[in-house]
Amino acid sequence: MVQDLGRVVSNSEVKRGYFLMDIRSPSIARQAKPGQFLTVRCGDVTSPLLRRPFGFHRINDSGFQVLYEVVGKGTRLLSELKPGNKVDVLGPLGNGFTVPGKTKDVIIVAGGIGVAPLVALAEKIVNSPQSIVHRKPLVLLGARTRNDILCVREFRKLECEIKVSTDDGSQGFKGGVTDLLEDLLSSIDYRLSTIYACGPEAMLKEIAAIARKRKSEAYASLEGNIACGVGACLGCAIETRSGYKLVCEDGPVFNLNEVVWR
Ligand SMILES: Cc1cc2nc3c(=O)[nH]c(=O)nc-3n(C[C@H](O)[C@H](O)[C@H](O)COP(=O)(O)OP(=O)(O)OC[C@H]3O[C@@H](n4cnc5c(N)ncnc54)[C@H](O)[C@@H]3O)c2cc1C
Ligand code: FES
Repeated sequence: MVQDLGRVVSNSEVKRGYFLMDIRSPSIARQAKPGQFLTVRCGDVTSPLLRRPFGFHRINDSGFQVLYEVVGKGTRLLSELKPGNKVDVLGPLGNGFTVPGKTKDVIIVAGGIGVAPLVALAEKIVNSPQSIVHRKPLVLLGARTRNDILCVREFRKLECEIKVSTDDGSQGFKGGVTDLLEDLLSSIDYRLSTIYACGPEAMLKEIAAIARKRKSEAYASLEGNIACGVGACLGCAIETRSGYKLVCEDGPVFNLNEVVWR
């Protein structure tokens, strides 16, 4: 883990309310892997007091990208940063995704801004020589409206097949992304797939139930309430079948079968 003053290379609105920030920080980038996260000081030392957590959206040799939705004070302050500004970043933190070795198919399921860390994962799977997946990952993108569907271009570049759902039917299938997943897993073609997901808790809970029913493995990056981010405050504890675990240290990626859902 490294604390660094990264340099903002670019920071622009990619869709209404969603920003992509490119940060130069070779020392963090060298250690980062998909599914791990960093914490960012968004304002001055006192406000907001706590650093904010973000997944690595894409990682390269000299830095990384953060894809974020503006939801409150911290993310609004981030959206105001300009190229050349310095930003206090700490990472990489947490465990990250385990890239599948010799496996069946991979299905990636994203809910809204939960797509952010899944692009780095797809890049790793597609480009990794150890990962002998049967075919390119199938990506299911779910969101409230078409404005909230992100990263189609990135997954297309990786030649992933993409299916989209929106709650209001403004793009793709009208309904939940978990309906698409259930359909796929009931077809012989995608039985025994490994699922990787990130998104709202209700979506992850449904995926856990579907995966259990279909005897599939499912892993997800959880978005708990991160305060310290380094295992010191115990504020991010969740219950699992093997006792309480910390999202920031033992996660954020968990086997969904292990999580005890409320
Ligand atoms: C491991 C991890 C990785 C994350 N990666 C990303 C990412 O790549 N891109 C991204 O946009 N966001 C990500 N988040 C969520 C992000 O950290 C929050 O949106 C951010 O901290 C909000 O800060 P704020 O000051 O703008 O809003 P705040 O003022 O803190 O909150 C504004 C609103 O958002 C809600 N909120 C805050 N944090 C969360 C959360 N973790 N989950 C659900 N609701 C929340 C609050 O309840 C409140 O209603 C991640 C969170 C975690 C734990
Ligand atoms: S956020 Fe403090 S222990 Fe996890």
